[in-house]
Amino acid sequence: MKKVLITYASLTGNTQFIATEIYDELVKNSDWDIIIKPINEFADAKELGKFDYIIIGASTWGDGDVAPGTEDIFEYIFNSDTDLSKTYLSYFGLGDKKYNEYNTAIVYIEEKITKNLDGKRIGKILQIDGYPNSENINIAVNWASENIELFNKKNT
Ligand SMILES: Cc1cc2nc3c(=O)[nH]c(=O)nc-3n(C[C@H](O)[C@H](O)[C@H](O)COP(=O)(O)O)c2cc1C
Repeated sequence: MKKVLITYASLTGNTQFIATEIYDELVKNSDWDIIIKPINEFADAKELGKFDYIIIGASTWGDGDVAPGTEDIFEYIFNSDTDLSKTYLSYFGLGDKKYNEYNTAIVYIEEKITKNLDGKRIGKILQIDGYPNSENINIAVNWASENIELFNKKNT
């Protein structure tokens, strides 16, 4: 059974909320062994290498940064010698178009994981503008179900 992780960095709970909706969608529509866990609970970055597929969600704060309190864990992961060359990853971000640095944190995270850890992205980076209203939840759930298909295709 495929081991799947949904992990997120969230300050006020919006990204966590979307992550939970994605989790529910995956539980309903896959036969994977799925866990959901905040990124700052990974004391050992190498744990990430145990998953076949990882979905990462992060909001953008400040001047295009990850959520306050999660900078260190991301830098630790990016600079670790974790090998994600056999792991597929998908990325979603929450932001607000009124900021100049719109939804940039998740793009930075994708770049670092791809370059430093050799992670393999599937699907597009989903950038959500605004809050977890029903429209945005729908967008995220549809994106997740497309990713299930993409992942399954890689494994047939
Ligand atoms: C003080 C503040 C700064 C923010 N800075 C940005 C930003 O630079 N870029 C962006 O796209 N969104 C920005 N946002 C919007 C947040 O990313 C958005 O509210 C998001 O839903 C928060 O998700 P979270 O609760 O999971 O952390 C900011 C919000 C606040 C309140």
